[in-house]
Amino acid sequence: MQADALAKVNLGLLVGRRRPDGFHPLRSVFQSVSLADRLELESAVEDSVESWAGGEVIDGDRNLAWRAVEAVRGHAGSPERFRLRLRKHIPAAAGLGGGSADAAAALRLAGGHLAVGHALLEEIAPTLGSDVPFCLSGGTALVQGRGDEVAPLDPILGYALALVVPPAELATPQVFAAWDDLGEPTGPVIPASAVPPQLRHVDLRNDLYPAAVAVAPAVDDWRQELAGAWGRPVTMSGSGPSLYAFFVDEDEAAAALAAVPRGARLAEAVTPQPVGWRALPDPDE
Ligand code: C5P
Repeated sequence: MQADALAKVNLGLLVGRRRPDGFHPLRSVFQSVSLADRLELESAVEDSVESWAGGEVIDGDRNLAWRAVEAVRGHAGSPERFRLRLRKHIPAAAGLGGGSADAAAALRLAGGHLAVGHALLEEIAPTLGSDVPFCLSGGTALVQGRGDEVAPLDPILGYALALVVPPAELATPQVFAAWDDLGEPTGPVIPASAVPPQLRHVDLRNDLYPAAVAVAPAVDDWRQELAGAWGRPVTMSGSGPSLYAFFVDEDEAAAALAAVPRGARLAEAVTPQPVGWRALPDPDE
């Protein structure tokens, strides 16, 4: 069994005061994009998990996708053993939901194999992380609560993003804590004139932006440099440091990448997608 697990971007992220359970209430349009990790899950004699990035094994056994497999197996009461292989293209700790996308795709693959129904997968998803419920459905959705209230929207397609990950890794809890310490700031407003018409009703400000910059000041240098080079506003996804701007199509977004300074962790033209994961034919079929 193989699947692609798609990254997400936040088209705006409004944050409210920390709740007693430690999470912050959100309001954000989440959008799956064409950048994806590849997962393979197979029956095996023994459990094993391998995660590859750029030709190197980056971790062994405790990643979120593996925890998803274990949770599904536990609910199914199955003794089956699995081999999980992950080929990572989505940068970690970047605000692109890579770990959550992998976990959601692993839920789908393991759930399909062990005949665990969708309702149970939806129950497991929030126990793995706040972004996993969205990734289970994917596409375009209005996400609220701590991330667990997902209301699918009609797909909003027909534009492209130039997506750049500056050279910093930001831990989500640290960015939320900085947001509390800064006195709950609001993010910069993105003028509607710089936004594709089909997104003009979406509030694109990201309230975590000032917090991400407080943790990693270089993020603001990157944003300013890209905004200058591209002649349009640049905004941040999630808790950062991923930055993006809107372009008419993938060719235009790809052409804009020539202006990206050296040292970015990722610079890619991506397009919005109507799903969060895609099953793929097995390689030997
Ligand atoms: O749910 P997840 O494991 O992704 O959350 C990681 C951390 O991010 C939480 O422990 C919390 O500190 C912070 N967080 C938050 N509000 C949210 C989502 C995450 O404060 N809505």
